[in-house]
Amino acid sequence: MTIADELIGKAERRDVLFGIIGLGYVGLPLAVELVNAGYRVLGYDISQRVVDGLNQGKSHIKDISDAQLLAAVKTGRFSATSDPDRLGEPDAISICVPTPLSKFKDPDVSYIVAATEAVKKTLRRGQAIILESTTYPGTTREIMQPALEATGLKVGTDFFLAFSPERVDPGNPTYQTKNTPKVVGGMTATCLKVAMALYHPAIDTLVPVSTTEAAELVKLLENTFRSVNIGLANEMAIVCDKLGVDVWEVIEAAATKPFGFMKFLPGPGLGGHCIPIDPHYLAWKMRGLNYKTRFIDLAGELNTEMPNFWVRKVGDALNGHGKAVRGAKILVLGVAYKKDIDDIRESPALDIIRLLQQQGATVTYHDPHVPSFKEDHNEMRSVPFSTESVAAADCVMIVTDHTAIDYRMIRDRAQLVVDTRRALPRGD
Ligand SMILES: NC(=O)c1ccc[n+]([C@@H]2O[C@H](COP(=O)([O-])OP(=O)(O)OC[C@H]3O[C@@H](n4cnc5c(N)ncnc54)[C@H](O)[C@@H]3O)[C@@H](O)[C@H]2O)c1
Repeated sequence: MTIADELIGKAERRDVLFGIIGLGYVGLPLAVELVNAGYRVLGYDISQRVVDGLNQGKSHIKDISDAQLLAAVKTGRFSATSDPDRLGEPDAISICVPTPLSKFKDPDVSYIVAATEAVKKTLRRGQAIILESTTYPGTTREIMQPALEATGLKVGTDFFLAFSPERVDPGNPTYQTKNTPKVVGGMTATCLKVAMALYHPAIDTLVPVSTTEAAELVKLLENTFRSVNIGLANEMAIVCDKLGVDVWEVIEAAATKPFGFMKFLPGPGLGGHCIPIDPHYLAWKMRGLNYKTRFIDLAGELNTEMPNFWVRKVGDALNGHGKAVRGAKILVLGVAYKKDIDDIRESPALDIIRLLQQQGATVTYHDPHVPSFKEDHNEMRSVPFSTESVAAADCVMIVTDHTAIDYRMIRDRAQLVVDTRRALPRGD
């Protein structure tokens, strides 16, 4: 029996210890799903605070409730550690570390490099290593394979290496880790077979592709597709504004076409850890190959222009009431990058607040999911949401359309509303 067959047999018997490196928005839901599938899971994170919390059944991720985590801990099959020496124990390791951009918008793969170095120190025969972090095509083959093979072990025969992008959509009530189809690309055919067998008990649908590069590119295409289409919707918002037409009405009507159209909505700009960042990974890779990715760059330009567009709308609206932005009291509703979540990474609300403050406005915010935040030198606390706070503002700006907000009250009580999401009720 080969070591690949041994590992596949262990997966079938659920006799696998699965390691997860990076227990954040992606790693923690995956860890819980693997426990639910019957595996034992050892989570590894460099944050002692995260590790301690998880071992006590306290989740720091909204999509995983304390009850779900506690249930996983109580099975006795989940534990977390900050000790990298223990990475030799798992049979399989999924790497879910961040992949941000540097200050110059180049990929920062230092977390992947650090995680790979940690795995390398304890790599042993029979382990399967699967990268989940979004990254540019070639990362698994160019960064991970040589580092891991420097141990003397050979990929495909001694250990297995694959890329499988995480598609988690925080706050999505319908699609979570288990029922979202998962793409898998192996470094060799055996690597693919092993990775598929490992994920099979935990994920409803697996989608094999022929290489790790194809799998890496799938994720970048998905997020570039969103960025480009949101860019188009945002350009339509600018076009409609100039024509005096309601862009949401146009898009909703276009979306009644049962074929050949997919609805994307305009808004205050892009946010989150994926859509504003991932297309840059591809653009960067292609620059190195002397190719300029035009759609990606154009969508990026349009989407990053949106906070300015909406701040100008606030200025115009105040002007219509005989007021200036300078000295105006502006209540921003929602700072999370999308509705019903607590994540403010890359949120356009942060740009909007900064731009308004630069123009001399007195800005407060309310967000039911974000009690406070600190961004550069800006430290803010959510103010109460009440008829008084709404009525007292010269302008209420809806930036994130959280479900918990009473938009009817805003419509009825606010002096002025700039609604970047079309959240206000129409009609009565
Ligand atoms: N958040 C999303 O919605 C989402 C969706 C799909 C894909 N992704 C991708 O998944 C990856 C992870 O994103 P995330 O949102 O889960 O990040 P996150 O910041 O929520 O979590 C990352 C975790 O990794 C830990 N970490 C960092 N370096 C480490 C190291 N060297 N060893 C061990 N732990 C380390 C951090 O302490 C943190 O707890 C990224 O590549 C991201 O692009 C994210």
